[in-house]
Amino acid sequence: MEALLFHSRAPFPIASVLVSLLLCILLATAVNIFSQLWKQHDTSKPPVVFHYFPVIGSTITYGKDPLTFFAECKAKYGDVFTFILLGRSVTVYLGASGNNFVLNGRQSELSAEEVYSPLTTPVFGTDVIFDCDNAKFMQQKKFVKFGLSQAALQSYVQLIAQETASFFDTYTPLQTGKGNNNTGILDVPSAMAELTIYTASSSLQGAEVRRQFSSAGSRIADLYHDLDMGFSPINFFLPSWVPLPRNRKRDAAQREMTRIYTDIIAQRRLESNAANTAKDTDAQDMIWNLTNNCTYKDGSKLPDKEIAHMMIALLLGGHHSSSAVIAFALLSLASRPDIQQELYDEQVRELGPGDLSYDGLQRLKLHAHVIKETLRLYNPIHSIMRLAKKPLVVTGNSGVVIPSGHTLLASPAFSARDESYFADPLKWDPHRWEKSSAHDTTDDDDDESSGKGSNNPYLPFGGGRHRCIGERFAYIQLGVILALFVRTFHIKSVRGKAGELLTTDYTSLFSRPLTPATVAWERRGRPIDPMPWIRGYLRRYAFFHTLLIAACIFLPWWIRRPDEGVQFAALRRIECTSLPQSEDVFVVMKTGSTVLRDRLPIHFETTFKCIPDYIIFSDAAESFRGHIVNDALSYIDESIKSKFPSDFQLHDHIRDKGGSALSTNQGWRLDKYKFLPMIKGALDARPNARWFVFIEDDTAIVWSNLLRWLASHDYRQPYFFGREEKVADRPFAHGGSGYVLSNAALRHAVNYMEPRMQEYFNLTNEIIYGDISLGWMLSDSGIPLTNVWPLFQGEPPDRIQYAEDIWCQPVLTQHHMSSQAIASLWMLEQANLLHAQSADLLHRDVFNALIRPTLSHRLENWDNGRGYEQACGTVSECETLCMADETCVQFRYASGQCRLSSRVRLGVPTASKFGITSGWLVQRIDRVYGGLQCH
Ligand code: HEM
Repeated sequence: MEALLFHSRAPFPIASVLVSLLLCILLATAVNIFSQLWKQHDTSKPPVVFHYFPVIGSTITYGKDPLTFFAECKAKYGDVFTFILLGRSVTVYLGASGNNFVLNGRQSELSAEEVYSPLTTPVFGTDVIFDCDNAKFMQQKKFVKFGLSQAALQSYVQLIAQETASFFDTYTPLQTGKGNNNTGILDVPSAMAELTIYTASSSLQGAEVRRQFSSAGSRIADLYHDLDMGFSPINFFLPSWVPLPRNRKRDAAQREMTRIYTDIIAQRRLESNAANTAKDTDAQDMIWNLTNNCTYKDGSKLPDKEIAHMMIALLLGGHHSSSAVIAFALLSLASRPDIQQELYDEQVRELGPGDLSYDGLQRLKLHAHVIKETLRLYNPIHSIMRLAKKPLVVTGNSGVVIPSGHTLLASPAFSARDESYFADPLKWDPHRWEKSSAHDTTDDDDDESSGKGSNNPYLPFGGGRHRCIGERFAYIQLGVILALFVRTFHIKSVRGKAGELLTTDYTSLFSRPLTPATVAWERRGRPIDPMPWIRGYLRRYAFFHTLLIAACIFLPWWIRRPDEGVQFAALRRIECTSLPQSEDVFVVMKTGSTVLRDRLPIHFETTFKCIPDYIIFSDAAESFRGHIVNDALSYIDESIKSKFPSDFQLHDHIRDKGGSALSTNQGWRLDKYKFLPMIKGALDARPNARWFVFIEDDTAIVWSNLLRWLASHDYRQPYFFGREEKVADRPFAHGGSGYVLSNAALRHAVNYMEPRMQEYFNLTNEIIYGDISLGWMLSDSGIPLTNVWPLFQGEPPDRIQYAEDIWCQPVLTQHHMSSQAIASLWMLEQANLLHAQSADLLHRDVFNALIRPTLSHRLENWDNGRGYEQACGTVSECETLCMADETCVQFRYASGQCRLSSRVRLGVPTASKFGITSGWLVQRIDRVYGGLQCH
């Protein structure tokens, strides 16, 4: 009964609550309307855009199409007006003056971090970008700029081109027509979103991150998606802790992504050897730059967590804008076959049939104008916001003051469509930029603090202290994709006509084409015909051409300098002493088809002249200067290769097009798979050799030392010698330093490995370097590694730290050797054999011959490496500190930090921007080391 009563009464209170709520809303709406209609407008404040509902204000009209909303408001209220966005007062200042006012405001008056941080910090992570004080963020921006150096950008062109070409060859919607009518339909925004994430990750983010995007078991694509959901516009207004499922996923993804990056950094650190140098693969990328190159002004290094958060910011920060811009560009081109043809002709004229290069890209002016024009008409960032921390007087004589607490909004996207700045502004016309460069700014125009150049209607990358750092990268990335697309496809609009504006989707934070936005594509029939290019070249550069040919013919007579040819001629005159027991040792050299042309020739004049029995393994079979090069990967079963398609496609690619078709980085991707098959290949080739010595193409061997040392060991015992490194606490032999297996060890290892091939290839796929899986496989098979450092060295002479513990030890191998360094060491060995026949060549001898003569008192822009740190003000103080410490032999000074060391290291030149000076106490070095006796 009670239940019945309860149920029968329930509707009444709910209905009354609803009715009261409705009345409240009606009342508030009425008050809101009347106050706007009847209240006298305070002319010292910006006019407020008329709206019916409080709190909601103009949110819906602005959200649906901000640029149309701005245009309507401008017609009614002028360039400065306030509208209500979910309860906030947002004051818009349109036009070039508005851009300047907002982007170039003082840091004490306008805050970007207070607007953006609630949105970005949960996604990027703490202590970076908008979650730290502005001075720290400006230093972080400089660090990223270092990493986007000219050299880095040049290397990215190849990486991006390779990614794009392989995407065109594998992306399913682009394969439909293959083999029959060669046409199909493509949803451009989806395709470009996928492609730009691959190109940005393989170039900016480094090999490990890129690999995770295509590795079967990796969650990185899901994590990226979950993080990206954190960029929903609603998160501008809700506190980040609101327990929405989306926010929970975002936070978990943020933690997991941070872990992925910190693991990469830790693994790289483990693998960099004692002399603190990076492996070849990470030499150029942003993680390497942030880890090794960047120190805050207070002398502190970037913590790993901050590096991880900055990498996440770079991964997500530029992706949406870039993918939207290239999608808009292609969709615009789809209704302009005339411009597609002009772009194609430009490539024929400027590049010929050759590959894209950084310099080539700079010559493609129309390509750059297509991107520039797309950024004008379809700028993906329609609103740039700041919080007014003080009342701000609007420029000019209006007397209008923007109250403190308002959010300020500038819209370069709107000014770039304004007819007072651009004729026929809604027409997509890349040629307009040939006539005018009046609105150009480059990132050099904007000193972060001055913001000059912001009084401009065309600012797709912003301006002032918050100007985008990714502009040059974006131009490279978009330029390469555009050029390759035009080379490969003709496209046609499925809907829409030439000259019609493309429909934009404004629902996410970055505007993008409304999807699906499809085009019909057709593959171009044949590669670029070189003849028009050759004719054009000859016509335009005939004079230069003649000069060049004359120079090539006469140059060798005019100049005689110690170039490679002369050096090789000198080496050729030196005969190699034949050594006992050489025949017992089989040397196995690993190289790659992308590098062997540079690295092998010096070995043919030195190392291999003395070694009677050797084999060369690469990733493709070929004959190079009369030497057979074997394909190590041909030993791998097809069933195993098919498990790692993205990597082994590169192998097929080499087979079809030759090694020069791959970038060095792609060569590296294949490199790790060579280690396991190489040991089998070596045993097959010489089953009876006593010793198997494995080296790489930038490893030097002191052959006489090695033979003497091997003679003191029994090849019938299972020996595995190498320079020990560890990953996950497990030792392995570092491949570049060389390693040796006795016959007994190699036979045992191959027997053990063959039935477990799949298992060890899975391992190889997961880790970065193949020497790790080989070392672990040997250890699993019961053959432990014997560490033979310092006989086997991971460094060339100029990067070794010489001290008493290695002074009297023989040199057996050295790694990271240039051709010059290999030649020098080999000649030293030959001289030693002549003079001191049975004595080993020691580290002492190498130091005295190659390093000591180059040591001087001080060298500017030079880094001699590690040591313990002390604060001090000048280089001279640093030197005095070194002299006061009787164990110190060298010092290094940079930015108030002095490093002192008791080991001597020559080191390497550095860029002047790092301000590093190194010095040596030469007399002390001579006294200490000259007194050491080797017996
Ligand atoms: C076509 C592509 C791109 C466009 C149109 C674009 C546009 C912009 C704009 C307008 C700003 C200024 C925002 C403001 O003042 O509030 C900005 C800032 C920024 N951009 Fe880009 N961007 C692009 C690509 C990139 C790329 C590829 C990266 C990373 C490599 C990147 C990283 C950043 C960062 C970190 C900031 C914040 C700078 C600061 O607040 O000081 N952007 N971008």
